Amino acid sequence: MTQAIAQVAAIAATALFIFALYWMNDPKTARRGVYAGVLGMAVAVLATWVQPQIVHHGWILAAIAAGFVVGVPLSRVPLTAVPQRTALSHAFGGLAAGLVGAAEFSLWLREGPGGAQFTTFRTSALVVEVILGFLTFTGSLMAAGKLQEVRWIPQRPVTYPGQNFVNLGVLGAALVLGVLLVLHPTAPAARTVFPVIMGLATLFGVLLIIPIGGADMPTVISILNAYAGLSAVAMGFVLDNKLLVTAGALDGSSGLILSIIMCRAMNRSFANVLFGAFGTVQKVKVIGEQKEWKQESIEGAAQLLEQARLVVIIPGYGMAVAQAQHKVRELYDQLTKRGVTVQFAIHPVAGRMPGHMNVLLAEANIPYTALVEMDEINPEMSQCDVALVIGANDVVNPAARYATGSPIYGMPIIDADKAKTVLAIKRSKNPGFAGIDNELYVKDNTWMLFGDAKQVIGDLVKQFAGGGLH
Ligand code: TAP
Repeated sequence: MTQAIAQVAAIAATALFIFALYWMNDPKTARRGVYAGVLGMAVAVLATWVQPQIVHHGWILAAIAAGFVVGVPLSRVPLTAVPQRTALSHAFGGLAAGLVGAAEFSLWLREGPGGAQFTTFRTSALVVEVILGFLTFTGSLMAAGKLQEVRWIPQRPVTYPGQNFVNLGVLGAALVLGVLLVLHPTAPAARTVFPVIMGLATLFGVLLIIPIGGADMPTVISILNAYAGLSAVAMGFVLDNKLLVTAGALDGSSGLILSIIMCRAMNRSFANVLFGAFGTVQKVKVIGEQKEWKQESIEGAAQLLEQARLVVIIPGYGMAVAQAQHKVRELYDQLTKRGVTVQFAIHPVAGRMPGHMNVLLAEANIPYTALVEMDEINPEMSQCDVALVIGANDVVNPAARYATGSPIYGMPIIDADKAKTVLAIKRSKNPGFAGIDNELYVKDNTWMLFGDAKQVIGDLVKQFAGGGLH
């Protein structure tokens, strides 16, 4: 009976997970997608719990309570910290898979060779689970620490000669020991080899992330997502739990697809991100004389905007930090009221997480129809009268087109520099996420509006609404 319940529940939960992913494709149905995912997970947990072999209910209740203690504060982080929060979730997922693998192995050892647990397939799955689980754990913790700018984790890539050799050597050693374990699972040395594999995977997670910095971090987070999913698949094979296999496969494949989409958005090959130079940061050389930054007043900027036919707003991370989206909506209303066409140019990696800008602008009720993807807006940029850059930097940096040594070289950008006039809002002359200068700000047709994005846009709105302009 419980077997039948488990099978029906597995199908129901899998269907809910698939619908969750499908609905999350569109902002209009995303909320429904989240509810479907939560329901799917609840069904999966309950269906596992009712199995007769589950006897220590106290431990399950304690685990659920611990999940709430960690999960509730995690759900309250600001939108700008969601990437590091996501990395922490992957870390917990990886740790759970690794620890379940370790517990399972010690159980097999206790049962001894007669236990018939050590089939080649199951031991291989166990090794994969443990290696992926522990490397995801430390790799994700490092990624979260880097994104949170924790003081003792260097933000910039840390590189040294022969680094790829050392990294692959550590991973290779773990794999070789894993193969030996699969071949001789009951040998007395297995008790020592297993923790060594765990240790090497943990070390590899750290080594994998330290040479990565700047523009590659979003891709790394979603690659770690894929690893966490694959480790859950392996755990499903070890525990003979089909639901874990399907849920892990959905998690792993969605992470992988997202990584590929991001690689395309940054014009990097997948292999290059994994094993390449990982974007060592270099200063972009300013060719010719050092140019001046020019400033514009609020009145002057408002006039430029009012006289424009087409204004393209390019939002970036700074708009998110300043929480300026509602003021941007007011500015959009003021301009469209005056017959100005306003479009929003959305770069796929603007901000700190996939879809960051879409989420913020949707929150401020800016119509989806005004949001234009990078590939569609770029051909129009030469027709644009004013490009209003709000707290965006790397995603409008023309160096991405030609500066071969730059960490963002090859990343497609929004061609703000092709607009007739550029107005750029930021607080200082500091660089953006990739830590490099941006010549857009010193171009002849660029005017800066220095200040906090919410404040500056608010002043512009006041200028329009308060009678300064009609
Ligand atoms: P950034 O290059 O990080 O530039 C943001 C700019 O906003 C900074 O130059 C900063 O200048 C300004 N700023 C910060 N706070 C502000 C405020 N309160 N008011 C006004 N301006 C403010 O952002 P971007 O152009 O959106 O590019 C995104 C970068 O993040 C890319 O390198 C991308 O690869 C990386 N990244 C993306 C993701 C995803 S998936 N989207 C994830 C991780 C990393 P001031 O300090 O002078 O104000």
